[in-house]
Amino acid sequence: MPGPASRCWLSWVRSSSSCTVWRRGMAGVGGVVLFSGAMSGQARPGPLLRVLGRAVTSAVARFPATWQFLRVPVRRFFDAQATNWDERAGSDPTEYLAPLSTALDHLPITPGRILDIGTGTGAAAIEMAARFADAEIVGIDVSAEMIARARSYTSESPGRPTFLVADAADFEHDEGFDLITMLNMPPFFDRVVVLLAPGGCVVHASSHGARTPFFSPPGVLRSGFSRRGLQTVASGCAGPGTFYIGRRP
Ligand SMILES: C[S@@+](CC[C@H](N)C(=O)[O-])C[C@H]1O[C@@H](n2cnc3c(N)ncnc32)[C@H](O)[C@@H]1O
Repeated sequence: MPGPASRCWLSWVRSSSSCTVWRRGMAGVGGVVLFSGAMSGQARPGPLLRVLGRAVTSAVARFPATWQFLRVPVRRFFDAQATNWDERAGSDPTEYLAPLSTALDHLPITPGRILDIGTGTGAAAIEMAARFADAEIVGIDVSAEMIARARSYTSESPGRPTFLVADAADFEHDEGFDLITMLNMPPFFDRVVVLLAPGGCVVHASSHGARTPFFSPPGVLRSGFSRRGLQTVASGCAGPGTFYIGRRP
């Protein structure tokens, strides 16, 4: 059940949706449709976006050094998407957040410090602020436009969550986090492990399962994190989405 903050995000998404916005959300590059299905009220990533997203995800997961070449085009792409992101991503917000919410239901800890990597417009961070009222929550994103949107939703409650323009590849934190989340994000394995406090958990969730552009199969997540010393707590499906939970001993 979404909490008050996420209900606020959901109602904003609903109230701002319009046919005009939907059509703009479907616009692609060079006439290629990046998002499809808007006529049915469900904008889903189109095939081109899925192929590109999977290529970026695979490159970052296997060869982290490739990120230095991908960072600028990825940032520009998401800067351009920020205005219409919620209308697309939130076509069914409960479904969109279902794998993250299910993973949070299975968390073996109550986190005090939370980092949401690739927070976009802050949907996951806002959902977690509703669940973990005492937690310090930081959402980071390379896209300044995404972060500006995220901040605009929480302007009435300064400081919770905090949204920063930052790159997961070089983001640092002295104390480490009890929980790191990535919703619809390539898994930055090495950085996540460095940023996790002992006993801390990582949650990786994909809203559209294998149809998510930045999808990582559960096996890749399990082996990527276990090679770096994390234990798998759970993985599974929720609605059309998938999730993985790992824990640092
Ligand atoms: C597919 S969007 C998901 C946004 C949000 N989590 C959601 O599900 O609505 C991926 C986001 O990750 C951000 N991103 C990609 N690589 C990143 C990195 N290395 N560090 C921080 N943010 C990153 C992008 O700018 C983009 O906003």
